[in-house]
Parts: sequence; structure tokens; C-alpha cells
Amino acid sequence: MDFTGGEIYQSSFDPKAYLASFCSLGSGRDDILTFRLKKCFQTFGPGGLKGEVLVDIGTGPSIYHLLSACESFPHIIATDFTDRNRQELERWLRREPGTFDWSEIVKTVCDLEGDSRDNWVEKENKLRSRIKKVQKCDVTESNPLGPSVIPLADCMITALCLETACSDIDEYCRSLKNITTLLKPGGHLVLIGVLGDSFYRVGEKSFFCLPLDEQTVRNAVIDAGYSIKDMELFDIPDQTSSSHITDSYANIFLVAQKK
Ligand SMILES: C[S@@+](CC[C@H](N)C(=O)[O-])C[C@H]1O[C@@H](n2cnc3c(N)ncnc32)[C@H](O)[C@@H]1O
Repeated sequence: MDFTGGEIYQSSFDPKAYLASFCSLGSGRDDILTFRLKKCFQTFGPGGLKGEVLVDIGTGPSIYHLLSACESFPHIIATDFTDRNRQELERWLRREPGTFDWSEIVKTVCDLEGDSRDNWVEKENKLRSRIKKVQKCDVTESNPLGPSVIPLADCMITALCLETACSDIDEYCRSLKNITTLLKPGGHLVLIGVLGDSFYRVGEKSFFCLPLDEQTVRNAVIDAGYSIKDMELFDIPDQTSSSHITDSYANIFLVAQKK
């Protein structure tokens, strides 16, 4: 399908429809979400990455990938291109009624962390208190956060953003280099992505996704100046059950250190 750039995200990306299709446990995608949550716990849990500032690139309206990170990074900066996504996240931060119900995902992370599920509200509030800023970002710009100045990050996470924001592999590699300027030397990149995906459907609208394979992602990360520390693939067991909303065959979870 044709590339869907920034204007289409601004006019047509519906954050509530996205969360309902891609971030709900019980919607047929539990194994994929659970893989990501487990890897995040393994990466940020005891003995894992730690520091002061974590920047999340292309947060969208989502928080699942920050639930473990908020235990080891007290200062989290969320970013996204699309105004409505940042507004939806800000509504959740303000606990406004009608925002997405993350409780089952938060309880799953409590399980992973060995905490009681009854403490899910405290866990959610901890993450809220650690997200210090939500700001505009465009990964295709050489300075993705524009004129605003943030401290260089100890860690950068990005989930399913670069492959949706970039029209071809060259732009993917350039955008990865752009966001890498926000990270300290020696800092870590945590990249969550989808492989083989050419589209994803949000409500009535389909969005472009750049089909990637493992080697292309590895090469891009190495070319952007990182050494890879961990990489795991999750093969999607039943692709047909999600074929109306996406066509990816696997998820990739990669941790790398900036040289
Ligand atoms: C598939 S969603 C992923 C959201 C979230 N990270 C997650 O894992 O659920 C892709 C996100 O990339 C954002 N995006 C698209 N183009 C972008 C760009 N040029 N710069 C930064 N973010 C962009 C969209 O607004 C959207 O929130």
C-alpha cells in the first residue's frame, strides 16, 4: 500500500481504535503482548538497565512498554508525532474518565515483577509520576524533538514507530541515526518492532508499515553506531487470526548499546 505520512497520521489515526485492536488482552493478540511485556521485564527488571533519563520515541497512546522501565528510570520523556496520540496519553496521565483500561496489562506486569495484582493501581500511578513530559517528535527530522532541549538520555526505547514512520529502508536507517543523537554514548537502545509487516488497520483506516527482516534491523542498528547486546524474535503462531488488521510474521525485541 502507499506510504501514509504525517498528514494522514494527524487527520486519521484514531488512538482509541488503535488501543482496542493492538493493546487489549483478550483480543487474540495476548501472546504477542505477553512476549513484549516479558522482554521488557527481563531488560529493565533486577540486574537490567538502570539510569536517570529514558526517552520513548513514538509512544503513541500506549504505555505497556514503559511499565517495567519506570522501576529503573525515574525521568521518562514520552514523544509522538501525532497530536491526538499525545493528547490521549496526557488524558490518561490526568486520570480522565473514558481513557483506555490498562488494568489487565498492568496486572500482568505485576505478576512478572512478583508483586500482588491488587497493587496494580499503585503501579499505574508510579508510571504516571515518572512520565515527566509528553512532547512532539518527528523521527525523520535530523533533530527529532525540534528546538526543545532535553537532557541526553541514558536509555531510549522505541516500539513499532520507525517502521510506520519511514517509507523505505534508507529512511529507516536515517531516522534511527536521527533519534540516536538523543542518547548518551554508552546508553542503551531498546527497539521493539514487527517483521514482514506491510500495513496495519486502525478502525476503518489502513496505515503503511515498512516490511523488515531480522538482518535489515540488525544492519541498521549496527550502522547507527551500536553494538547489539540482546535480540529475540517471536514468531506469530496464528497469523490468520489477525490478518484483517496486520500481516506481520514476527516481533523483534532488540537491546543495543551506543558506542
Ligand atoms: C503503531 S504506533 C506505535 C505506538 C506505540 N509505540 C506502541 O507500541 O503501541 C506508531 C506510532 O508512530 C507515530 N509516528 C508516525 N510517524 C512518526 C514520525 N515521523 N515521528 C514520530 N512518531 C511517528 C504514530 O503517531 C504512532 O503513535
